[in-house]
Amino acid sequence: MDVREAVYKRRALRALDTRPVPKAVVDEMVEAMRLSPSCNNNQPWRVIVAREPGPLEAIKASLNRGNSWASRAPLIMAVCARLDDDCKLPDRRDYFLFSTGLAVGEMLLRATELGLIAHPIGGYDALAIKERLGVPEDHVLIALVICGYPGTDTSLLSEKQLAAERERPARRPVGENFFDGHWGRPWA
Ligand SMILES: Cc1cc2nc3c(=O)[nH]c(=O)nc-3n(C[C@H](O)[C@H](O)[C@H](O)COP(=O)(O)O)c2cc1C
Repeated sequence: MDVREAVYKRRALRALDTRPVPKAVVDEMVEAMRLSPSCNNNQPWRVIVAREPGPLEAIKASLNRGNSWASRAPLIMAVCARLDDDCKLPDRRDYFLFSTGLAVGEMLLRATELGLIAHPIGGYDALAIKERLGVPEDHVLIALVICGYPGTDTSLLSEKQLAAERERPARRPVGENFFDGHWGRPWA
């Protein structure tokens, strides 16, 4: 799969199969994050890879109701980062979340290439999960990446989520977010 194909194919799908993801495949996803760029090569991400029942249950107990589909996942990455572990520039450019997001993005594409669903979510009780998994107080649990092979069981999906399985949710018109040489001048 080339990069273009992975970009177009990557989807935040929710119909997961419960079969485990082999360790060698997880290692490939970890490596994609390790090789990601970061400010000054600080590599601020800290990731708990949950694939055993104990850690998985610790996470699944604190998913928001709208994320109950994720309870079928055989693999969840809990992505953490700390402000002080990456560049902090005086004009308020704190890079820890940016670098960590880049690393997750690279991992999502590699997971896509490996035939997996890798779906980042923000809907969970972060403090409860941090406590159960021993994440230090000064780290932000910025995202969970819900992973697994595509499945056919859609019983935990809402109507809206079912629609999103069929079709990628619409994007804003390009000129709303992208500007041609000057703020507010729509890119066409
Ligand atoms: C930071 C972040 C938080 C998200 N939180 C959730 C979530 O709590 N539950 C969920 O089902 N999807 C969540 N998503 C997935 C988005 O809804 C999804 O990426 C978006 O609708 C676009 O769909 P697509 O990725 O398939 O193109 C999240 C994505 C990101 C990047």
